[in-house]
Amino acid sequence: MANQLFARKSIDKLSADAFLEGEHNLKRTLGPGNLVALGIGAIIGTGIFVLTGSAAAQYTGPAIILAFILAGIGCAFAGLCYAEFASMIPIAGSAYTYGYATLGEFIAWIIGWDLILEYLFGAATVAVGWSGYVVSFLRDLNINIPPEWSNAAGVEMVQLPGTNSWVRITEQLSASLLEQGIDIATLPHATGVFNLVAAVAIALVTILLVRGMSESARFNNVAVIIKVGVVILFILAGAKYLLGHPEEASANWTPFLPENKGGFGEYGWSGVIRAAGVIFFAYIGFDAVSTTAQEAKNPQKDMPIGILGSLVVCTILYILVSGILTAMVHYSQLNVAEPIAVGIEKTGYTFLRDMIKIGAIAGLSSVMLVMLMSQPRIFFTMANDGLLPPIFGKLHPKFKTPHVSTILTGIICAIVAGAFSVDELGHLVSIGTLLAFVIVCAGVWYLRVKEPNRPRPFKTPLVPLVPILGILVCVGMMAGLPAETWYRLLGWMAIGVVIYFTYGKKHSVIRKENNL
Ligand code: ALA
Repeated sequence: MANQLFARKSIDKLSADAFLEGEHNLKRTLGPGNLVALGIGAIIGTGIFVLTGSAAAQYTGPAIILAFILAGIGCAFAGLCYAEFASMIPIAGSAYTYGYATLGEFIAWIIGWDLILEYLFGAATVAVGWSGYVVSFLRDLNINIPPEWSNAAGVEMVQLPGTNSWVRITEQLSASLLEQGIDIATLPHATGVFNLVAAVAIALVTILLVRGMSESARFNNVAVIIKVGVVILFILAGAKYLLGHPEEASANWTPFLPENKGGFGEYGWSGVIRAAGVIFFAYIGFDAVSTTAQEAKNPQKDMPIGILGSLVVCTILYILVSGILTAMVHYSQLNVAEPIAVGIEKTGYTFLRDMIKIGAIAGLSSVMLVMLMSQPRIFFTMANDGLLPPIFGKLHPKFKTPHVSTILTGIICAIVAGAFSVDELGHLVSIGTLLAFVIVCAGVWYLRVKEPNRPRPFKTPLVPLVPILGILVCVGMMAGLPAETWYRLLGWMAIGVVIYFTYGKKHSVIRKENNL
């Protein structure tokens, strides 16, 4: 029984299948430049444009830089492991496929099911962030979207006096309004019904994806240029401002790591650890490159370039942005929806503020694009293995995209994006992704021991040290996340196990081939 659950795919067969041409194979159109751009497209998004400010304000102060470095180190270890697998098993499916080849079908299913949290729920999280920026941008143009239709079900909001903005009700908000002599009960109230704006975002990206990879990659390249341009603009404008105001920078950076306020995670070193778990979200996405291995022109060489290249570029940008932002604006003022825009206002270049918003909207679009591109390709691979119904494995006759799977993913994602808040979604995405990273690190180590002589076009350095450190850092970040996130993860995994035993195990191709 145990052996049956751990049936493995042959790596030789996987590689051979990957290079077959034919109606069941995806088109190879992506070069190394596209792959790095896809990685950056997936990485830079809600994390840097939204979470940096709130994490600095709540957990670390200017030491948010250390949290970015810590999370970046964890991702680098995992990224090195992903690169070894992606170059060795260059087939769509990412960690799911690596699991299949090393740890067997059941673990592969568990990873595949877990990756839904990263990609499908990840895209939904970003769509919610996107809706925030779009609503704010439209408000600048005097177009007001009703708050009921731009927030998740059940979210309670009030309209601040003298503004068009609707703000989520919190204890701090009530208290600070009371200090100004305003009773929150007297303000106009609204309750979220469904975040239609987020759902529309998912629908638009899904339509683009069904049309084809080349079109999507072209859109992605433009979006990546815009968002990286905006980030660099912020860095340059911020640096220029700080050079002219060194006294402000040093005041804002003192203390660099504010003292702990008593509880775990509120400033001090525990704050850095908590913040690393939260802003880990900012790094999610580099692994998405590996899901396009079957569409890369030269996957053995280009997969590591795509994964590690995009990770390095983003880490450098994050450190610069967070350092400059906390030097320009005191961290206590950064708990806002658009911290980067608030930072740029400080420079006096107000026209840049709109550009930042447009850049964020473009940036978040490209994150959704890559995530919604990756998810159906994982479903596609799982369906070809018999673990999901065959409908997920269909290719469009003309566009050669897994269109049915893409549309189904889009529909489910749009519903999730409309129904849940960004916090609920974000934590779940982080924990799910960290779990996948842990399994990938373990898989690299395991395969080195089991099959030491297998050709590896890219080798993770210092095995087993790097995988072990990857596991430790990622588990540490998981441990920093709240208990209810753990319960949700366990609940999700329990559903996955039931589906495997009632569907996947019965339809598995590899089990049929081996008469298991
Ligand atoms: N890394 C992606 C973001 O920050 C998921 O939005």
